[in-house]
Amino acid sequence: MESQSVDVFAQKYKQLLDEKLRQLVEELNAPTIIKESMIYSLEAGGKRIRPLLLFATLEAFGIDAKNGLYAAAAIEMIHTYSLIHDDLPSMDNDDLRRGKPTNHKIFGDAIATLAGDALLTYSFEVMNKIPDDFASPATKLNVIVEMAKAAGAEGMVGGQVADMEGEGKILTLEELDYIHIHKTGKLLRFSVLAGAMLAGASESQLTGLSGFAHHLGLAFQIQDDILDLVGNQQLMGKPVGSDTSNHKSTYPQLLSLKGAQAALRKQIDLAKANLAKTGLETNLLLEITDLVASRNH
Ligand code: IPE
Ligand code: IPE
Ligand code: MG
Ligand code: MG
Ligand code: MG
Repeated sequence: MESQSVDVFAQKYKQLLDEKLRQLVEELNAPTIIKESMIYSLEAGGKRIRPLLLFATLEAFGIDAKNGLYAAAAIEMIHTYSLIHDDLPSMDNDDLRRGKPTNHKIFGDAIATLAGDALLTYSFEVMNKIPDDFASPATKLNVIVEMAKAAGAEGMVGGQVADMEGEGKILTLEELDYIHIHKTGKLLRFSVLAGAMLAGASESQLTGLSGFAHHLGLAFQIQDDILDLVGNQQLMGKPVGSDTSNHKSTYPQLLSLKGAQAALRKQIDLAKANLAKTGLETNLLLEITDLVASRNH
């Protein structure tokens, strides 16, 4: 494959994904208010890093990323649901997300909760829309089961529970790693695994990519913690200092800012080492890894 810059690649697929997400919600036969609430958060302008990872993983296997549109839409729906619920007053109680008032600030807690529920459940249906000539029903079923695990009590939800229970306590680094690996790492890792499974990866490629995405997911959340401390609210489109006001344990809080930055670099190095083992065309995935390491939003 000819090497392509991640910026051009990201722009092209972001646009295709945005169109697909809107179309998928518009075609729902459902009350207008829930569709408006779903679209409000989907279109609020996230970075789309998980879809990008899925697209780049397909390209690493020499497969046209367009084939990943339904899978990417499904993952972005789960991620967006998790943000809507994460911001609720009973959770992180935040007012700003993706540069706009949070979903519950506009639609109220009940509709915001239901919009999250609707995005989560729809994601499974959307994943099943992948055409059979690209992925067999058996492959799709495997992907859907992995998605359920990544999002559920053994994955993201488990991490969010531990995050809430950890408020006001000083956690050990091991406890904090459990939170980060689950609340953020599992879905991010799934984005890569889904691409690999759809591409028909070998066992050893799956192992390498899984290791890559595990470390990348942890790095992503370490940087999220760092940005909560030293980031720019305008750039991030979400509040700075939310972790401090909610008395959360974070990487900078446990290790100092310098220690957190060193831990981030270590995870980035481990991610790249795992990627190198796969023998795939990984230039896009490597560029995304560097973006995660240096991101300011
Ligand atoms: C924020 O995720 C929540 C975490 C899991 C750290 P992103 O930083 O990917 O948020 P968006 O999608 O760009 O808004
Ligand atoms: C959220 O972690 C993780 C999920 C939404 C699953 P955070 O609470 O740190 O995310 P932000 O900082 O609000 O985006
Ligand atoms: Mg949270
Ligand atoms: Mg939060
Ligand atoms: Mg955060």
